[in-house]
Amino acid sequence: MAPPWDEIRRDFPAVTRHVYLNAAAGGPTPRPVREAVGVFLRELEEDGDLYWESWIEHREAVRGRVAALIGAEADEIAFVPNTSTGLNLVVDMVGEDGAVLSHELEFPAVTLPWIHRGIPVHLLPAVEGIVRLESFSLAGAPRAATIAISHVEFSNGCRQDLEALGRLKAHRHLVVSGSQSVGAFPVDVRRCRIDALASAGHKWLCAGYGAGFLYVSRELLARRAPRMVGWLSVERPFAFDNRQVRLLPSNRRHELGCPNFAPIFALGAAVEYLTNIGMEAIAARILELNMYLTARLEREGFEVLSPGGEHRSGQTLVALADPREATEYLQERGILVTRKREGVRISTHFFNNEEDIETCVAALVEHRGTLSGAS
Ligand SMILES: Cc1ncc(COP(=O)(O)O)c(C=O)c1O
Repeated sequence: MAPPWDEIRRDFPAVTRHVYLNAAAGGPTPRPVREAVGVFLRELEEDGDLYWESWIEHREAVRGRVAALIGAEADEIAFVPNTSTGLNLVVDMVGEDGAVLSHELEFPAVTLPWIHRGIPVHLLPAVEGIVRLESFSLAGAPRAATIAISHVEFSNGCRQDLEALGRLKAHRHLVVSGSQSVGAFPVDVRRCRIDALASAGHKWLCAGYGAGFLYVSRELLARRAPRMVGWLSVERPFAFDNRQVRLLPSNRRHELGCPNFAPIFALGAAVEYLTNIGMEAIAARILELNMYLTARLEREGFEVLSPGGEHRSGQTLVALADPREATEYLQERGILVTRKREGVRISTHFFNNEEDIETCVAALVEHRGTLSGAS
């Protein structure tokens, strides 16, 4: 049975205030997220750090939930504020191995940390908005130690088949940004042979800002020491030993000091919320809404630049002559999308519905009418 989408919408106050088609920029949080953070802040306000132990337990429960979401083990997860921080920790671990293979649709959080350290990054070309996986094959691609890629591209929503990429990666590290996919599509790090994956929590996960995580495989953790350590990176922090570093074997070693409890609890509530709906059901709903939107746009004569088929995601890039004006026109009518160089990016998440799409398409048609009237 399909989840009760209309009922679910009621958990998102943002969708009654706006036509919210902007999850790829930032997803609104459902009520349980604020409630989880509210409980923590009330405890802090009323009792200081009396509940420290229970917060630590809560943090570990969240770690388990995040791990289960992506098919990892809890000791492979570290909490980080955002993707960029997570990916920099990965570059610290594997950067010295050599060049990186990425592509020209990629978000700079995935490429710049390597370039900054002087590591060559080969950008493979996209053809008609798609980077073909064959171009990453060991035989055809420039030599590289690492493949660094987003599961879903911020630029046009192109979704990559991570399982296929995992099959052709060979000895190379596979490093992934999950920021445009985790919370929207199921991800299984083991099945896809992913070595490291970083994700923000504020987009499709609907957890708000500062609530990211980093997965690093046990194998990679065992082989590589972190560059940065803190007093909580060690096995017995409360021994307060100033003379030696006995590193934690787990990815928790990357959490250097006191925890950022509020975003972690927000992430925990969001992951629990999404998991209760079911990631397969969420992905199916997103694809259904995306196909509905694509068909409606094309019927009205708009050009959809996002790839379809197996590359389809929750993002739809529509070509428009005047992205700035169009975005403002939509915003004045309460419709939130992202302005892009080529047009606008419309995101459809599970909390959206066909009515949101109809409102947005009608406004785009109306706006186009004002332009042709003016010329
Ligand atoms: C693929 C991808 N990775 C990462 C990010 C964001 O990076 P961060 O979480 O460091 O802000 C974005 C933002 O648009 C993105 O699209």
